[in-house]
Amino acid sequence: MQILSTVAELRTWSRNARTTAKSVALVPTMGALHAGHASLIRAAAASCNAVAVSIFVNPTQFGPQEDFTRYPRSFEADCALAEAEGAHVVFAPAVEEIYPPGATTFVDVEGLSQRLDGQSRPGHFRGVATVVAKLLIAAEPDRAFFGQKDAAQVALLRRMVLDLRLATEIVVCPIVRDPDGLALSSRNVYLTPAQRTQALALSRAIRQVESLATQGERRAATLIEAAKALIATEHNSVAEPALRIDYIELVDWSTLRPVEIAATGNLFALAAYVGPTRLIDNTILD
Ligand code: PAJ
Repeated sequence: MQILSTVAELRTWSRNARTTAKSVALVPTMGALHAGHASLIRAAAASCNAVAVSIFVNPTQFGPQEDFTRYPRSFEADCALAEAEGAHVVFAPAVEEIYPPGATTFVDVEGLSQRLDGQSRPGHFRGVATVVAKLLIAAEPDRAFFGQKDAAQVALLRRMVLDLRLATEIVVCPIVRDPDGLALSSRNVYLTPAQRTQALALSRAIRQVESLATQGERRAATLIEAAKALIATEHNSVAEPALRIDYIELVDWSTLRPVEIAATGNLFALAAYVGPTRLIDNTILD
């Protein structure tokens, strides 16, 4: 497996792979790879002959008070995992390679970037859209793989790829969870054992909503209330630390606008702070 650090090297690798009649996949990540990332790399290797994994902790998607400097970094272990899952290249650029000094060009997916996580994390989705656009332009992949775990990010990137007429297909992979239900996240390492127990309320709320929807409940307000009530009960059952809901919403997955009556394909998503750590979870209703 090769490790590349410049856009020129990545582009040359991708174009060479393409001329030998191969399909090229890109799996964008911020590193601290876990089984969720591994599932994306496996899916990429199963559908394309040449697989690049990018590892770049993107400064522009972090707010000033967020965890950019202490975001977990484990480059050696990440490379070993990427290789074991079938990656041919790891692209690990320096910040100046992605943002040349003086860079002033950004991609803003208007409207979508202000919804869900965009509401409480101003500028976050602008940073995500900008870095993913740069990665897609550099790697020119046939397919790029993303997790449903970040469902709002998926909506934003689908819109961006459509609007910019980029020639990459966005592939979405299911959420990978720990056996007890907690959605895997690089940020789970921040949780104390007590916080981790409390964080299980998120996936329980998601399962509760799934089962109500399966029983035929279609009213958004009822589904949202059920999730809120479950989280409040779990909260009361653990003295410390606090769990604070950021948002719970039922939305159309392409526009991220709230819907009142649930329909197949709608996104039920929530975000909550467990102590200082912000976690997200969701389900697509079927
Ligand atoms: P990161 O959080 O590292 O996630 C990289 C990819 O892994 C995303 O597509 C995310 O949805 C997926 N992923 C994370 N946890 C997952 C899980 N439990 N199951 C399935 N997939 C999971 O998302 C980002 O990085 C960044 O915003 C990025 C797109 C790389 C742009 O900087």
